[in-house]
Amino acid sequence: MLTARIAVVVSGGGTNLQALIDAQKRGELKSGRIALVIADKAGIGAIARAEAAGISCDVIIRKEPDFEEKVLSALAAHTIDMVVLAGFLGIFSADLLRRFGKPMINIHPALIPSFCGKGFYGLRVHQAALDYGVKVTGATVHYVNEVADGGEIILQKAVDVLPGDTAEILQRRVMEQAEWVLLPQAAELVAAQIVREKE
Ligand code: GAR
Repeated sequence: MLTARIAVVVSGGGTNLQALIDAQKRGELKSGRIALVIADKAGIGAIARAEAAGISCDVIIRKEPDFEEKVLSALAAHTIDMVVLAGFLGIFSADLLRRFGKPMINIHPALIPSFCGKGFYGLRVHQAALDYGVKVTGATVHYVNEVADGGEIILQKAVDVLPGDTAEILQRRVMEQAEWVLLPQAAELVAAQIVREKE
């Protein structure tokens, strides 16, 4: 069967990458195959997860010159059909998005349009939710466009904020109850769409 070739871009521990790998193993992510992982830092946990799963992993340092050119070259070299940002903490330029020209999706650990945009990443998102005092937060998977966290929403899931939560506790609950479920589901939806268009 025809499948979409997926690149996953990561900056951290890679638990969302792991959720994608596990979904692929279980046959739930079946319209796409993870063909490449791009890590934007050396030594991050996501690299070991890619290696353990036997997936090609390019380390392209975000802080170094020509980062985006190197990313575009890697995507072309691996004939990538779609990109999943799974804990990528940078923001791709409009130029990169235009030149890639294929679907790119992102997981954000809040219910967009709350607690999103520039500066809202990782634990900061959960700390902002706690500081505001919301009783419900969650995760969102959306298409990436030139506005940070501004693209069309694909899936969202709500998660309760509980008394006594710290940012770390809330982050873990949002990952377990929302992110690790939603991201593989959204990747499958987008991959299936790509396959339908290829056929
Ligand atoms: C995840 O919570 C992800 O939603 C978040 O970073 C974490 C990465 O964890 N992404 C953002 O904040 C993007 N704005 P992981 O490396 O274990 O998947």
